[in-house]
Amino acid sequence: IELEALNTLHVPAKARFYVEVHTSDELVRSLDWASSEDQEVLILGGGSNLVFAGDFAGLVVRLAIRGRRWEHIEDHRATLVLGAGENWHEAVLYAARAGYRGIENLALIPGTAGAAPVQNIGAYGVELGDCLESVTALDRNSGELVVLNNAQCRFSYRDSLFKQTPGRYVITEIRLGLSRSRALVLGYRDLREYLGDTAETALDPLHVAEAIMAIRRRKLPDPDMIPNAGSFFKNPVVDGVTFEALSERHPDIVAYPQEQGVKLAAAWLIDQSGWKGFRNARVGVHNRQALVLINHSGGTGADILELAREVRQSVVDRFGVTLEMEPGIVGGSGRENP
Ligand code: EPU
Repeated sequence: IELEALNTLHVPAKARFYVEVHTSDELVRSLDWASSEDQEVLILGGGSNLVFAGDFAGLVVRLAIRGRRWEHIEDHRATLVLGAGENWHEAVLYAARAGYRGIENLALIPGTAGAAPVQNIGAYGVELGDCLESVTALDRNSGELVVLNNAQCRFSYRDSLFKQTPGRYVITEIRLGLSRSRALVLGYRDLREYLGDTAETALDPLHVAEAIMAIRRRKLPDPDMIPNAGSFFKNPVVDGVTFEALSERHPDIVAYPQEQGVKLAAAWLIDQSGWKGFRNARVGVHNRQALVLINHSGGTGADILELAREVRQSVVDRFGVTLEMEPGIVGGSGRENP
């Protein structure tokens, strides 16, 4: 089966075997089949955070476990339970329309609910780990369904247990702790500018979700129109000494102090290295957000990875900072990591 329509970069790649699973039983049966046939497995959600470097010589399992329900509704709090195959953005709107707060800043992030904990999706001052209560996952070591609480998920910036132990867990369901009374998170600069002097008391979570949608649409390409995989690199964190040296040479460097070290805006580093709006015949760098690589026309995963390598090298040459890729690389020979 051709996977081009199943990854948001729309690069071509073939899977030897493909199955869509709608329940955890179907998931278990598919994985059992793969191990009895000695086939590698790739779990696919929305395909928005990976690059196919080539074909996948195994079984691609698309998680299509649906379902949305509320649990433990008490006073102002409730738990929203989502099947792993639920569309993330629709879930954000569903919660916001019900007046529940917690994930409205994560509107318009592509992909599925089950993929969201893997990279601990985050935007505009909120990360999934801030409200995730637990996930249900199939532990492929034991073959059992396990419930992992927030601490066990080991969330940090664009990182989690699931990223640290690739292949071990398949998330089937997630639980989000939402509230009708918690404070809205309005501190991120773009959001403050967009909202102007609207009083916080005049806002509900749907207003915030709509503001985020407008802000994202201004800067970030819609993968349905312009194939991309969101931010292609993480924002790198450097130590204080490195930062001092950098900011002496580049006084306008964009940076955010962390508990440990300083996080740099990768988009700024790439932009300053002259890449914003660059394009060759097939792939390029978005002209409104330098952190986003784009498949303009007929690009392959190899084209994208080659561009990533060049971008990365020029940032090393100019700033001495090494950017780490955000999406995972799958398929091909497995030696394509730039
Ligand atoms: N900037 C440039 N040139 C550009 C774009 C940005 O110089 O082309 C500078 C600006 O000074 C800007 C700063 O970089 O203030 C940061 O840019 P932005 O606010 O767009 O955020 P970001 O750090 O580039 C991160 C996330 C996004 C998320 C936004 C908003 C990562 C890797 N990316 O981007 O997440 O939407 O913040 O919170 O952390 C994603 O992961 O796919 C993603 C889109």
